Amino acid sequence: MTSSEVSGGPAGVAPAGGLRGVGVLVTGAANGIGAATAALLASEGALVYPTDIDEEQGRRTAAEFGAADRFRVLDVRDEQSWDAAVDQMAADGAPLTVLVNSAGAAMKAPLAETSLESFRRMIDLNLVGTFLGVRSAARHMVPGGAVVNISSLRGVLATAELGAYGAAKFGVRALSRVAAIELAHKGIRVNSVCPGSIETGITDLPDFAADDVEAYVRSIPLQRRGSPGEVAEAILFLVDRRSSYVNGVDLLVDGGTAAGVHTSKKKKNAESGK
Ligand SMILES: NC(=O)c1ccc[n+]([C@@H]2O[C@H](COP(=O)([O-])OP(=O)(O)OC[C@H]3O[C@@H](n4cnc5c(N)ncnc54)[C@H](O)[C@@H]3O)[C@@H](O)[C@H]2O)c1
Repeated sequence: MTSSEVSGGPAGVAPAGGLRGVGVLVTGAANGIGAATAALLASEGALVYPTDIDEEQGRRTAAEFGAADRFRVLDVRDEQSWDAAVDQMAADGAPLTVLVNSAGAAMKAPLAETSLESFRRMIDLNLVGTFLGVRSAARHMVPGGAVVNISSLRGVLATAELGAYGAAKFGVRALSRVAAIELAHKGIRVNSVCPGSIETGITDLPDFAADDVEAYVRSIPLQRRGSPGEVAEAILFLVDRRSSYVNGVDLLVDGGTAAGVHTSKKKKNAESGK
């Protein structure tokens, strides 16, 4: 199976195992969605290069799916780190063919209480980091490859107190679409995934401590948070030949939250005493 087969072509449906031997770089792979994605793509036979800023946890996680030797420290905000990682993949004979930009972090604050420093920190990590990854793909990715950028439901629906994070995540979708258009002539597809509320450590911050999680869950049509594995499955679809004609989309993985207004029966019953 060659790397150019990853994105497939007009020939049709790909057999399973289309990622075998393909060079995949995943950022933010020490935890959460990045970790689940790296493990899933590795289980499909891809040569996954898990990367993260957290070396200790990154190596531990990578060892779980047999990729400890390929783990690299990559701070997504640092140009040199990107060049070094991509060069290493080429030298190993596993040139960059799939890129999943999952590194990110959130913060919660009303705009009036958001410092310039924290706003810039959000943009740097979530948007500049994704830009540097997309630019590496534009320069070095093997024709026929695929990029998936992780945006967010908060990059689709403006959300109070998530101004800095939301601005970055709206930006990630814009960047993805521009790249989808610019790189299409190389057969490189670029899509974004917009998760809703997923059970990871991203909200383990004092900013989010007061959130009423139960009320939030009631607002999700599927009445539960998603798992990192469910997002990873959506990412697998977007990098696999099965999505060979899907380019420039924002795939919501949010249990239906963005579909429209939802009134929870459970809540209504509780209110009416039923
Ligand atoms: N969990 C959710 O509910 C949710 C919802 C929507 C979008 N997202 C997005 O999904 C992506 C993954 O988030 P998660 O929920 O898995 O969070 P997570 O905190 O579990 O994982 C994020 C990873 O990014 C790494 N990271 C942080 N800064 C980095 C840097 N400068 N360079 C490289 N790595 C860095 C962290 O060490 C961590 O391993 C993020 O982009 C996030 O914004 C998450």
